[in-house]
Amino acid sequence: MIRVGILGMGMMGWLHAGQILKLPGAELVAIADSTPERLIAKDSVVGNITTGDGALDLSGVARHTDPCTLIADDGIDIVDVCLPTPFHARYTVEALQAGHHVLCEKPMALTLQDADQMIAAAKQHDRLLMVAQCIRFWPEYRFLRDQVRGGALGSLLSLDLWRTGARPTWSWQNWFLDPQRSGGPLYDLHIHDVDYTNYLLGLPDRVQASARRSPATGAYDVVHALFTYDDGPQVHIHGGWSVAEAPFRAGYEAWFERGLIRFDGLANPPLMVYDSQGSACSPEIEQGNAYYNEIAYFVDCVEHGQPPVECPPESARDSLGLVKKEIAASESGQSIPGRN
Ligand SMILES: NC(=O)c1ccc[n+]([C@@H]2O[C@H](COP(=O)([O-])OP(=O)(O)OC[C@H]3O[C@@H](n4cnc5c(N)ncnc54)[C@H](O)[C@@H]3O)[C@@H](O)[C@H]2O)c1
Repeated sequence: MIRVGILGMGMMGWLHAGQILKLPGAELVAIADSTPERLIAKDSVVGNITTGDGALDLSGVARHTDPCTLIADDGIDIVDVCLPTPFHARYTVEALQAGHHVLCEKPMALTLQDADQMIAAAKQHDRLLMVAQCIRFWPEYRFLRDQVRGGALGSLLSLDLWRTGARPTWSWQNWFLDPQRSGGPLYDLHIHDVDYTNYLLGLPDRVQASARRSPATGAYDVVHALFTYDDGPQVHIHGGWSVAEAPFRAGYEAWFERGLIRFDGLANPPLMVYDSQGSACSPEIEQGNAYYNEIAYFVDCVEHGQPPVECPPESARDSLGLVKKEIAASESGQSIPGRN
């Protein structure tokens, strides 16, 4: 049984707790949060994601108000870092130094220096590190991955990805709306699709982008990016936070040699496949949620001592680097090489 402790019991900490409680091979043994009421019950937190897990029974789970005392518990195998982004590097490194494996929420960090320190600590202490880039584990996006890797529709020609929603106003100390702490939506939200593109197709040959700053926060609030692959597809990615209370919307449209796949989380049915013979169908895909899938995957890696090849930390670090390249491309008006 793999023993897990969670740092940060905000929206994501409670969401992760619900998945760990369902996992046959894992046990939630400790939680930590500096806000004591967040350690008591899930309804003390708010957010925009639900996995329908209902009330959670955490009786018997140790509670800490200081992440360091949880990290000091050597009965824990995995420390699951669900803290606000500015704390990712510090507590990931401390947990790795203490001998734990670490699952860390995305974005890995706000700077490449922090990401490099996290990777170096995992190597130095011979522990596993994975960044929870959940779109790599999302059933509709895995379906697209499988089609790209060898489906009946032929080669991928073009991919359009989008992820937009209202500015998140519910977080602890409103840290999401502080660009110094969250990086704004390019680092916090749009990075999901950047990372998925990196996972699906690797680093692009060229990055172009146009980003706009919010007058309210001064941070980039919306971006249109274009990734170009020589002899491969072109990828357009649109992401951002709006001041309007519009519903969150994410999806993709992938054009292939012999058809098209469209996923729109707000449509019914959300996933459709159209082929060049005129047929249209909503395919059967695997069940389950991405958060459960990613945590189950990392628990399995730890149990078998296998590196997380589906989401190596170096790859999550490259995705962070791509967001930075988008900003550089937008500011310079130039196309930037995607590979170094
Ligand atoms: N994968 C996804 O889909 C997804 C979605 C939302 C957020 N996230 C990421 O998850 C992370 C957490 O986001 P969230 O929405 O849960 O935030 P949140 O504001 O809801 O919760 C943060 C929690 O951390 C606690 N905290 C803050 N500083 C602390 C400290 N020093 N020590 C102990 N506890 C501390 C707060 O009391 C709060 O309970 C962020 O990195 C965010 O980007 C990922």
